[in-house]
Amino acid sequence: MYSTILTKLGRRLRLGMVGGGFDSVIGETHRIAYQTDGCYELVAGAFSIDQEISRATGAGLLVSPDRIYDDYRDMARREAARTDGIDVVVIATPPQIHKDVAMAFLNAGIDVICEKPLTKTVAEAEELAACVASSGRLFVLTHCYSGFPMVRHARDLVRSGALGRLRMIEVEFAGGAPGVSVEVEDPAQRHWRFRAASMGKEAVLGEVGSHAYHLMSYITGMLPQRLSARMQTLAARREVYDNAYLDFDYKEGVVGRLWASYVATGSQHGLSFRIYGDQASIEWREENAEYLHFRPLQTPEMILRSGQDGTSDFVARSSRFRPGHPEGYPLAFANIYAEAALALVAARTGTGSSDLMGNLPTIADGVAGMRMIAAATASNQKDGDWQPL
Ligand SMILES: NC(=O)c1ccc[n+]([C@@H]2O[C@H](COP(=O)([O-])OP(=O)(O)OC[C@H]3O[C@@H](n4cnc5c(N)ncnc54)[C@H](O)[C@@H]3O)[C@@H](O)[C@H]2O)c1
Repeated sequence: MYSTILTKLGRRLRLGMVGGGFDSVIGETHRIAYQTDGCYELVAGAFSIDQEISRATGAGLLVSPDRIYDDYRDMARREAARTDGIDVVVIATPPQIHKDVAMAFLNAGIDVICEKPLTKTVAEAEELAACVASSGRLFVLTHCYSGFPMVRHARDLVRSGALGRLRMIEVEFAGGAPGVSVEVEDPAQRHWRFRAASMGKEAVLGEVGSHAYHLMSYITGMLPQRLSARMQTLAARREVYDNAYLDFDYKEGVVGRLWASYVATGSQHGLSFRIYGDQASIEWREENAEYLHFRPLQTPEMILRSGQDGTSDFVARSSRFRPGHPEGYPLAFANIYAEAALALVAARTGTGSSDLMGNLPTIADGVAGMRMIAAATASNQKDGDWQPL
């Protein structure tokens, strides 16, 4: 299906990038992801806070020098004024400035693909959500793990009732690689993730917890009503929390639990979920992402493999290869770009895009994630008191 996107529009979508320079962690992943299906062409950018790095990044990516900007506001203005200006911008800066960058482009009439967590605060998230609504532009949040075929199939299974009545939703994003489980010796070398002044002491919830929280709602279609949170700082010399345990209550007695951590020593990536109903349960791990374990009560466990027949069209188009070929993280991330391209092209060719946006993480997911972080912060300050969501 992705192969028909370009013939509909007759050209590639013109993409701009803010952040994601050669000095960034995530920029290269975006470049691999948006190039996968050939739907996008990078034509402009303000790639780094450091202008030399921004220019070097643009030059390295063959962006025309007059479209490498020193400032994202200038980029939004000048790209909007061009007849061949960008269709969509991807924002891969630290989250503290997502709101200002996104609003500059939305107000210039440009669609936005934005990194998580949505913003720094709930107030900013709500202001941005209002801007998205009034602009009428598309807004996609790169909660990339929802791009895995077997995560999408888990969603189909849960929503079809195959697990019966849901009971427990358990999600972990507990990493422990040396780069995160040990604090650097020199505080001046800390990445912004580990500075309380950047995203607060609770940054672990935005960085990894928000992905886990998004999966809980993406798969089940449910948001919890209240939470209780406790957070700890376990690595020496660290000024932010690096471990968080959250409990959730849902309607109709469903309960949930989220563990976000940087100090699960030795854990490689650490994202997984287990969802239990009264008829069956499912389990998935990012490190073995091609497989979904399905455990009905009355039959032996089934290990479902991505790329097999018998899934929905949506899941089937999320696998580029037949079973046996590992696809993994880059293609999951690419699926977010491919689904976004479907929605962007549908909007441009007048075929409507609201149903296509239903498969993607959007502004509403970003606001929900920020509400979770604010409630967890309040709960932790009161030693785990339950807080409404
Ligand atoms: N989806 C994922 O799996 C995933 C993984 C890692 C990071 N992220 C998210 O991606 C975002 C970026 O994270 P990172 O680790 O790459 O951060 P980083 O600090 O390593 O890189 C940020 C980039 O933004 C640039 N930048 C900063 N201010 C700028 C400005 N005013 N104008 C233009 N460029 C500017 C920096 O120079 C750098 O190139 C964050 O929101 C983070 O949470 C997502």
